[in-house]
Amino acid sequence: MAIPPFKLERYFAAWEFVSPYLLCSSDIEGWALADLLALADKDGRARWDGLSLGYTEYPGLPALRAAIAEIYTQVAPDEILTFAGASEAIFAFMQTTVAPGDHVITWWPGYQSLAEVARARRADVTLLPLRHDEGWAAECRSAARRSGNSRKDGRHRQGSAPGSQPGYTGGS
Ligand SMILES: Cc1ncc(COP(=O)(O)O)c(C=O)c1O
Repeated sequence: MAIPPFKLERYFAAWEFVSPYLLCSSDIEGWALADLLALADKDGRARWDGLSLGYTEYPGLPALRAAIAEIYTQVAPDEILTFAGASEAIFAFMQTTVAPGDHVITWWPGYQSLAEVARARRADVTLLPLRHDEGWAAECRSAARRSGNSRKDGRHRQGSAPGSQPGYTGGS
């Protein structure tokens, strides 16, 4: 599978750590580890202090998956997979849900891998323009009609919310 160079990351590789001001970051203002650990309860602190840096189970640390499942009303811990970042999750999602000939809709501007990993899976990709003068609203139905290349069975129309670091993906 050949995926073209990621232009945004090439740009950041050149400029992210040499520019005095960054106005285009999409990451959070990270906390210092000491500040985060100050919030831990006794159990959490003990887990941290005893943490070893070896492999854990491949879907993720069971305690972490249980904690994530608590955020949701209809998801069990064994349905949670953890990833080291959204890029991994986007790749795994496309690999497992998109087949050649599927139709993928993703908004644009957006994270390049959403379109490129889907193209590398030989999906038909429609870029759904988001426009400032339209309030950044996305109208997915008209995009599907406009593209004229959606599969008859309607498989895989998906998007990812720009600025949503966990990589929200909605599909139907
Ligand atoms: C909108 C969006 N999606 C996905 C990612 C990839 O996230 P990660 O660096 O956690 O792999 C980023 C990273 O900048 C992003 O801004």
